[in-house]
Amino acid sequence: MAKVIFVTQNNGSMEVEGDSGSLMELAVANGVAGIDGDCGGVCSCATCHIYVEPADFEKIGQPEEIESDMLQLDDNVREFSRLCCQIEVSEVIDGMTFVVAN
Ligand code: FES
Repeated sequence: MAKVIFVTQNNGSMEVEGDSGSLMELAVANGVAGIDGDCGGVCSCATCHIYVEPADFEKIGQPEEIESDMLQLDDNVREFSRLCCQIEVSEVIDGMTFVVAN
C-alpha cells in the first residue's frame, strides 16, 4: 500500500493511494490533472511526466534507457524528471510527493 501526493500544474494537491500497478495508472484512475497516460504506459508519450523530490530520486531507482530517451524529447525535462508509468506503486514510494510536469 502506498499513499502519495501529486502537486498539480495549478498548484493544487491530491493525495491518492493504491497497492499495485504503475503510478501513472493510479494518477489516471484518480483523475490527477496533467497525467494523461496516452500511450497506456509503454513509455512512448511522456504525458505522465513528473518531478520527483531530489531526496527520493535514488530510492525509486534509475530510469531505464528507453525512459531517459523519451524524457530527453520533452522540453520540460529536469534533473529529477521521471515518467510515472515506469514507477511501480509499492511501499517504496509511500509518503512521497510528485509534481506534475507542465
Ligand atoms: S504513459 Fe506514455 S510514457 Fe508514460
